[in-house]
Amino acid sequence: MEYKYAKKENYEDFASGRVIYHVGGEPTFPVRLSLEIYERCLSYSGKKTDITLYDCCCGGAYMLTILGLLKNNTISMIYGSDINQESIRLAQDNLSLLSKSGINKRRAELEDLYQKYNKTSHLEALQSIDRIEQLIDKEVRTSIFNQNALEVSELPFTPDIIITDVPYGNMVEWDQGNGGINQMMNALSSVCGSETIICVCMNKKQKIQTDLYQRLERQLIGKRKFEIYRKSRRE
Ligand SMILES: C[S@@+](CC[C@H](N)C(=O)[O-])C[C@H]1O[C@@H](n2cnc3c(N)ncnc32)[C@H](O)[C@@H]1O
Repeated sequence: MEYKYAKKENYEDFASGRVIYHVGGEPTFPVRLSLEIYERCLSYSGKKTDITLYDCCCGGAYMLTILGLLKNNTISMIYGSDINQESIRLAQDNLSLLSKSGINKRRAELEDLYQKYNKTSHLEALQSIDRIEQLIDKEVRTSIFNQNALEVSELPFTPDIIITDVPYGNMVEWDQGNGGINQMMNALSSVCGSETIICVCMNKKQKIQTDLYQRLERQLIGKRKFEIYRKSRRE
């Protein structure tokens, strides 16, 4: 896949476990790909600013945190949900990094670690956090909640963009449901508006079969693929 929007850059500052919190076993998502997908979704969206972004399988919110830091000029609200309580706790910690107070707390933790262990990795993390802090022009509001994505039927908000990286074996399986990706797409249709843009990242074997949505784009990338949808429009 050719990157149309996200530049090839050094994204080391955003490595999981450096400034962004990491817990063993929690999947992450490539930084450049997150940016590219978000920009592609935005290009299909009629709304270009004040975006409400939602991830219904957010895990530790690694991807949401990256987007909140690097795309806060267009995002005003981030919602994330997951079925797993530990992931939700990690997601809350990570999304706290979108605020000055969260950054200050993380800096104090890293300073403490550096004083105790004198490790280069902690010093590098302290350098990264200074650069990350510069990105916070505007604080994005965030909310994380517990929700089975296969059964979601109502939400107190209408997302402008949904980007989600669904379970596909290896590290995480679908929890509490066996209809997988198609069950999720059916459920999401009741919380999307007619203009909501949805991107689902999955492995190549997973297939979305639905006439509730119109597919706008499909891209293969390594072992993954992502597909972008909008609700089908009735004539
Ligand atoms: C591939 S991970 C997402 C990683 C995330 N994109 C990130 O950047 O941190 C998939 C997530 O789906 C969650 N999950 C599994 N079954 C679910 C369900 N039925 N409803 C909601 N989340 C579910 C898992 O707990 C896991 O956190």
